[in-house]
Amino acid sequence: MAKLNFKDKWILITGASSGLGREMARLLAKKEKAHLVITARRKERLEDLKKEIESSCNTRVEILQADLSNTGDVEMVFKKATEIADIYAVINNAGLSFYNISKESDMDVFEQIIRVNLLAPMRLCLKFISYFQQKGEGAILNITSETGLVIVPYQSAYSASKHGIQAFTEGLHMEYRGSGITICSFAPGGVITEMITNIGLEKKIELHSRVNMKVEIAARKAINAFKKKKFLVVPGLLNKATVFVARFLPRWLVVFLAEIIYRPPGLTK
Ligand SMILES: NC(=O)c1ccc[n+]([C@@H]2O[C@H](COP(=O)([O-])OP(=O)(O)OC[C@H]3O[C@@H](n4cnc5c(N)ncnc54)[C@H](OP(=O)(O)O)[C@@H]3O)[C@@H](O)[C@H]2O)c1
Repeated sequence: MAKLNFKDKWILITGASSGLGREMARLLAKKEKAHLVITARRKERLEDLKKEIESSCNTRVEILQADLSNTGDVEMVFKKATEIADIYAVINNAGLSFYNISKESDMDVFEQIIRVNLLAPMRLCLKFISYFQQKGEGAILNITSETGLVIVPYQSAYSASKHGIQAFTEGLHMEYRGSGITICSFAPGGVITEMITNIGLEKKIELHSRVNMKVEIAARKAINAFKKKKFLVVPGLLNKATVFVARFLPRWLVVFLAEIIYRPPGLTK
């Protein structure tokens, strides 16, 4: 099967202002020589990335500031990105999480999680599939999560959003198999990014512990898997083993063990 070739192609990346999205953008520009449309809410971060990439690589970067919890902004990203360039690939990466007993959150935060992690990538997938069908080619990578394969208590809403996008992506992959449109998912375990510190998960699992992957490594594995059109890649041996073993254990036992591992510090049962 021919690999995806990103050289001189335009790629849209959501959530490019930090973490995995920013690192994949760097890699796609520097190593793959792709042009990029990058989007997120923090415009200054996107401008810094554009400067960094355009000053060191012979590739172009365009910025779209957008809040993907807002349907109008999601529609705007599709419209403007396809006006700016002939988009060849999309990476749905933007995401947010919550870590604590679920009732300590409120429904607005959970709604934000579902909107950004599930509804926005779903909408972009559908929009871009129609667009790619007219062109006869195109590719989508959805950044899902190991929590979309194995339920993680105290990140229950996040885990629900990631189960949703994982199921949707796998379904789409098969629906469009052989059509010229590639749809892949990449499901990392812990990656050392702001997401972990934003939700305070480092208080439970130390940020630089061996459980969490360096963002540069995760980004490289994501792009390599995408180039090879992989159906689903879970990076890292420990993560692969967890997902594999979980398949053979009773579902309640997996969640029972995950509850112990992820129980917030100080919480007694
Ligand atoms: N870090 C991990 O351990 C881990 C593990 C598994 C999967 N993942 C997944 O990897 C992806 C990237 O996360 P990360 O770890 O790189 O986290 P990160 O550093 O916090 O980056 C998240 C990105 O999403 C964007 N974003 C968040 N809310 C948004 C909104 N309402 N509208 C538009 N953009 C929004 C952020 O940009 P702005 O704030 O500027 O809008 C940022 O660029 C996510 O899908 C995440 O679920 C992460």
